[in-house]
Amino acid sequence: MEKGQKDIAVCFPFKKENVEDFKNNIKEALSHERVGHVILVGYNENETYRGISDFISTLKAEEKSRISLIIQKRLGTKRRAGKGDGMNTAIQYFVERGKEKFLHFYDADIKSFSRTWIDRVQLRLDEGYHVSRCFFPRAYTDAMVTWNITRTGFAYVWPHTILPDIEQPLGGELGFTREVAERLAKDKIVLEASDWSIDTALTISFARYGVKLYEVYIKEGKHHKLYGKLSDLETMTVECFDFIRENKNLRIDTDRMVYHKDNTVEVPQEYKTRIAFDIDGTIREFKEGWTEKMKSLLLEYFPSHIRERVSKAISDGDYDFMNPTLWYESYEIFMKHFDPTIEEWRKLLFKLWVLRVLNHTKLALKDPDASLRSLKEMIELFRARAGVKNRHF
Ligand code: LAC
Repeated sequence: MEKGQKDIAVCFPFKKENVEDFKNNIKEALSHERVGHVILVGYNENETYRGISDFISTLKAEEKSRISLIIQKRLGTKRRAGKGDGMNTAIQYFVERGKEKFLHFYDADIKSFSRTWIDRVQLRLDEGYHVSRCFFPRAYTDAMVTWNITRTGFAYVWPHTILPDIEQPLGGELGFTREVAERLAKDKIVLEASDWSIDTALTISFARYGVKLYEVYIKEGKHHKLYGKLSDLETMTVECFDFIRENKNLRIDTDRMVYHKDNTVEVPQEYKTRIAFDIDGTIREFKEGWTEKMKSLLLEYFPSHIRERVSKAISDGDYDFMNPTLWYESYEIFMKHFDPTIEEWRKLLFKLWVLRVLNHTKLALKDPDASLRSLKEMIELFRARAGVKNRHF
């Protein structure tokens, strides 16, 4: 970099956020000497948008000139309009209007964000990596979509690649080069990932492009608003799964790809035992909402040893059984038969995922280290079983 050059654009996609946290994050980004452009992409003109718009009007002219506040476009045609449309709008805006060499994304609601994150991401881009993505220490009962949907799905569909090894494939804090942005902006698979599937779409696409990828460990963690019951994650769970299912025939070969990550020090004790969601509320909700159609899908597609345990969970609250092996069997059934247009399939996937999370959570509360080991072993189990079957790769 030449001295004084402003070669980084930073984007915060947002929907409904805490305006004070968001303002602080914008100020942090603006204060970075290499940030030439801050792109704020709103879901719609809501209260957060107005709050941020008022805030921008109070800034000095020089700072104002470096901010673009825009509304996301409808770029996907099939999936729900969500975070993916927001990120894709920013990528297109950057490619068409921006002059900077690098584009970074950060979530708007992070309380622990600081300009040093920009440095830590950029360090690897300056070293020649095309993509630099953050990962964080997470509670052992958190990251349940990441483990049980995404990393398992990658191991199931692309067992021979490095995809299942990526620590946080759903991470929204990342930076990449203009060349990568240009490819993403024209990529149909990415443009169609308009909902929560965008992070998965980006991860898969980095592998498809064979980029040099670095995962940066942000040891202080990502402090953001927590979720309550697991139902807060229902849409995300289903959308992330469905994207992998829909793209399961993509041939991906990561032999050429370079992938490095930071070594992690042991996760602090407070993370190990922190409970990331409302367990009692989740169990209560699990028992509700079972329709006849959901039960008939269970009967038609699932073997009796799974079906009967699910029925017992509904009737007697005996929910602690969906271990990695049974999850593999269930996952395979969803991979083969799940239909995203049928609401009951979506509900059933979510319910069985809840059982998987509850089974893991019980172990995490009893023996956190064993629970982390079991998540890692689950990925290897998926990979080994699918690897044998998917010999055609
Ligand atoms: C995950 C979401 C829940 O990573 O943050 O699984």
